[in-house]
Amino acid sequence: MNKKIVLATNNANKLREVSAILAPLGIDVISQREAGANCDPEENGTTFAENAMIKAKAVYEAVGMPVIADDSGLCVDALDGRPGVYSARYAPKGMECAKLLDEMKDVPENKRHAEFRCVIAYVDGNSEFTFEGVCRGVIGFREQGENGFGYDPIFVYDGRTMAEMTDDEKNKISHRSMALKKLCDHFKVE
Ligand code: IMP
Repeated sequence: MNKKIVLATNNANKLREVSAILAPLGIDVISQREAGANCDPEENGTTFAENAMIKAKAVYEAVGMPVIADDSGLCVDALDGRPGVYSARYAPKGMECAKLLDEMKDVPENKRHAEFRCVIAYVDGNSEFTFEGVCRGVIGFREQGENGFGYDPIFVYDGRTMAEMTDDEKNKISHRSMALKKLCDHFKVE
């Protein structure tokens, strides 16, 4: 019988992405709502790992089944790692790219390095793990591309923004898929 894992989110996109990666390993992923958990804990940690663990533990308390949670964001070198764990709250939804471009308007091309980071936390009552994925690129000078979400239109990887990539192309190189690959490797050796 397949192993069941609860994903600490009700976000349909995250659920689809994580399910697609874990299904070949015989792992069925269900949302926290499907598992009967109705919680939205305050993400008051100072690191992605702390926030991912806060979400995973809160849902584990509610459902008593293995849980994974993710926390992610954009860290810009020239801004000492900001917006980092505050990426989702940096600007009103849909305004984050414009605000960041404005904040970086005087930063020259060779100082615009940045990275997306993602931490996946796993909790099952006996064990707790975190797995981190990083994707390095640069911040462009304008928004380009229609796909993706958040900071994708200004995050340039290998000459194209993430918003100019298909889902499949982004999933090959993204911080989230790197973290999920580490999780997969962990389950493969179990
Ligand atoms: P959370 O992990 O759902 O809390 O998201 C954190 C925030 O980081 C999101 O709201 C986005 O603004 C940003 N972010 C995380 N991953 C990505 C990505 O793959 N593309 C663009 N923005 C992202």
